[in-house]
Amino acid sequence: MNRRAEVEPESLAARGGELPSARNSCTVPVTEGYERWAPIYDRTPNPLLACEERHLMPWFADLRNKSILDVGCGTGRWLHRLTTLGGQPVAGIDFSVAMLRVAEKKGAIRGRLASAACENLPFRAAVFDLAVCSFVLGHIRVLGPMVSELARVMRPGADVFVSDLHPDAYARGWRVGFRDNGAAVQIEMLPRAAEEIVQLFYSNGLECLKQVPLYLGDPEKPIFARAGKAHSFREACQLSAILVFHFRRLDSPIDRCPAVMTSLKTDHSTPSPPETRAKVGN
Ligand SMILES: C[S@@+](CC[C@H](N)C(=O)[O-])C[C@H]1O[C@@H](n2cnc3c(N)ncnc32)[C@H](O)[C@@H]1O
Repeated sequence: MNRRAEVEPESLAARGGELPSARNSCTVPVTEGYERWAPIYDRTPNPLLACEERHLMPWFADLRNKSILDVGCGTGRWLHRLTTLGGQPVAGIDFSVAMLRVAEKKGAIRGRLASAACENLPFRAAVFDLAVCSFVLGHIRVLGPMVSELARVMRPGADVFVSDLHPDAYARGWRVGFRDNGAAVQIEMLPRAAEEIVQLFYSNGLECLKQVPLYLGDPEKPIFARAGKAHSFREACQLSAILVFHFRRLDSPIDRCPAVMTSLKTDHSTPSPPETRAKVGN
């Protein structure tokens, strides 16, 4: 069965949120991980999610009358916010029923959610003006089908915002995960170089306009303190924690010359670690 609605989705009728290090933790498959994390996902302060929201919210100033898709929406963290900023109509998909159950409790997005995989979106082609895909990519083993589906449902000129754990943070042992009865649980993920992601999106008609590394900062300090990790906060702030991409849906991917790719530069004008900023004035 592969019925496609337009923007209407098909029906859907401790302590967590940590950055467990690769050591001293167990790794679980994605579906199991979110089944277990769902009940506490929204309740537990998470420095990565807090940092991402703080930096990205200003990018979404006026969303009136924009149709919005949240791919891998989880508990509806972004979808709910974007709806309150005027996004209309909105839709969120996720394959974790446990995460969607939490999202369904958020009034503004109730009935706008669908249980679906990113690789097979239940929507017609070219119906969304804006999409977000936050902390999902690293969980997807083969990215091609997901990117091709995303490109299919976006209108020409539409904006797509993608964020994930930065590959540098992954290399230093950071993982996406939570605590369950005191034990660190990390969820299976794989790192990808930014260039690989940009190239794949481009070959599907999504041009990268901006690529920004985000760093943890003082607003995240209390979260570290609460988790008993105040001692590691400053060091954590030095590392690129999150990588955000802003893509634009091209009219036609084949119209564009590959030279566009070479002009792409990482935008370092936005956040940098506090110490680096201090040095600039010296
Ligand atoms: C870290 S959570 C992020 C949730 C939400 N985007 C946020 O930022 O709060 C990752 C989500 O991606 C979903 N996910 C992972 N792989 C998926 C796939 N192939 N299809 C649909 N959802 C997927 C998981 O179920 C989970 O809810």
